[in-house]
Amino acid sequence: MLTDKRILLVIGGGIAAFKSLELIRRLRERGAWVTPVLTKAGEEFVTPLSVSSLAGEKVYRDLFDLTDEAEMGHIQLSRSADLIVVAPTTADLMAKMAHGLANDLASTLLLATDTQVLAAPAMNVRMWEHSATRRNAAILRDDGVAFVGPNDGAMACGEYGLGRMSEPLEIITAIESELADGPLTGRRILVTSGPTHEPIDPVRYLANRSSGKQGSAIARALAIMGAEVIFVTGPANATRPEGVHLVEVETAAQMMDAVKSVLPVDAAIFAAAVADWCVTSPSDSKMKKDSGKIPSMTFAENPDILASVSQMGDGRPALVVGFAAETDEVVANATAKRLRKGCDWIVANDVNLETGIMGGCENAVTLISDDGLESWPRMGKDAVAQQLAARIAAALN
Ligand code: C5P
Repeated sequence: MLTDKRILLVIGGGIAAFKSLELIRRLRERGAWVTPVLTKAGEEFVTPLSVSSLAGEKVYRDLFDLTDEAEMGHIQLSRSADLIVVAPTTADLMAKMAHGLANDLASTLLLATDTQVLAAPAMNVRMWEHSATRRNAAILRDDGVAFVGPNDGAMACGEYGLGRMSEPLEIITAIESELADGPLTGRRILVTSGPTHEPIDPVRYLANRSSGKQGSAIARALAIMGAEVIFVTGPANATRPEGVHLVEVETAAQMMDAVKSVLPVDAAIFAAAVADWCVTSPSDSKMKKDSGKIPSMTFAENPDILASVSQMGDGRPALVVGFAAETDEVVANATAKRLRKGCDWIVANDVNLETGIMGGCENAVTLISDDGLESWPRMGKDAVAQQLAARIAAALN
């Protein structure tokens, strides 16, 4: 699957750089071409000679190396690959990538490229957990950079935790999935997910039990099939999927704005459990119970994102899929909902607490479309997502 794929491998300066030598070997075994770029700090950990010997190609090191520029300019170098892999991605490289710094060959070509980038972070656990790195990771995910790892475990510095670079074979799997020529390659798909939080005052909000697991799994399954996925999520617990454009929102109104701003798309999957109502005038300061009064609130209806996208004229996605989380008369309510909202398919499920579906890892859904009803057996949310993604691919192709 990697035969004749061109990988531009940026090796940053971390102890994990030794694993990049093994990564080069594994890539070459699979028929890929590896063009290595070694940062100054990377040279402290692995030598240019060992890198170029394993890659069977010249190792690029310096932005101002005129020979390199004569042979292949950094712009061309950055764009001639099928995938750019940054392994290890140090905290410093992440910061440069997130903020558009271009002061050496690696950072310059990462800024100049329009090729997909896969980052394999490696750093001390405190550095990975630092709020600056959290922010940088969020920016990069939002920019569409895919991540593999980091893993949990013992580190060269003697500490233990998240920050170990993924193993070469794990990175190979991530590379294969980035380069997968799936049935949804070239398709742009929106997925909404998670609950929304509707503020009551600065510290309180209305919410629901949605974990965002089903939406995350759908986004992941679509991305693995090659789609460009825009994942608009409310404040959910579920792990964010890799390899998607991530847009994080809090309220239904923000979700509506985010959805409008990413249209047009080929398909839109509305898996979010959007709050139906918001508090009309949330208090600017924390409401105090010592005032002796029981507060009263008035509510306003939130915009119905699914209905408005389903009913738009020009620019309507070719396929609009809604979800119906119901506690009574699941199929009858969901069937009516599909017609009322105007979406093409509804994925209905029973969210009575005893089903364990809302917030759980499994789902039992009924797919309702013009073709009728189809009840799928109870299965993991990942499996539901894969099956739904396959249906979406079939419908779009
Ligand atoms: O009306 P109800 O909330 O039951 O509909 C559920 C479906 O509608 C889900 O697909 C959900 O994502 C979507 N929805 C929405 N905007 C709302 C309410 C629901 O997109 N304000």
